[in-house]
Amino acid sequence: MQNQAFIIAIDGPAASGKGTLARNLARHYGFNHLDTGLTYRAVAKALIDKGLPLDDEAIAAGIAQELDLKGLDRTLLSAHNIGEAASKVAVMPQVRHALVEAQRKFAQNLPGTVLDGRDIGTVVCPDAPVKLYITASAEVRAERRFNEMRANNVNADYNAVLDDLRRRDERDMKRSASPLKPAHDAHLIDTSKMDIEAAFLEAKKLIDAALRN
Ligand code: C5P
Repeated sequence: MQNQAFIIAIDGPAASGKGTLARNLARHYGFNHLDTGLTYRAVAKALIDKGLPLDDEAIAAGIAQELDLKGLDRTLLSAHNIGEAASKVAVMPQVRHALVEAQRKFAQNLPGTVLDGRDIGTVVCPDAPVKLYITASAEVRAERRFNEMRANNVNADYNAVLDDLRRRDERDMKRSASPLKPAHDAHLIDTSKMDIEAAFLEAKKLIDAALRN
């Protein structure tokens, strides 16, 4: 009888395809899924909605401690400016501490969980039996984001989207608290020239092998 959750940890930069992959894997294996980016986005949105500053760590941490993971709404939190604001609150250690605690609790849900974010394999679930690091060139990621925005009738300029992504990569990779980087034992999947089905099959091969062990 299995009494420990099987955890799949997925990290990578914005628009790398990790979110879609995580959802597809969770559906395939019947696992619970948490997009941890939504937790940072929810804190940022609550601050914005209340007219509170984005750079006051004590206030942001207070909101992070109260966050209910069940209330996360992807549609409400998906706006581009909320992603930007999220990467600002995500540099604060006290915010990360509160959210990581909630994320670790979620990770224990049976029979298994898929968590995607920036620090899952390195900090949140360092003992996960499968760690994936999904990446793609900045140009390819900007093109995907640009097409997605146009499909949703959002006015967008490719170069502005590319600049934004580069700025966010820089903030996520250079911060001192849990910077974005692959865990030493993560499998790298570069989706620059790969469609979502090919990335899924590569991930599935690795997961099936780990599940057999
Ligand atoms: O993945 P998403 O774009 O929704 O994440 C928004 C921001 O939240 C990221 O740019 C990053 O700064 C932060 N984040 C994080 N750690 C995670 C997930 C997201 O720092 N595990």
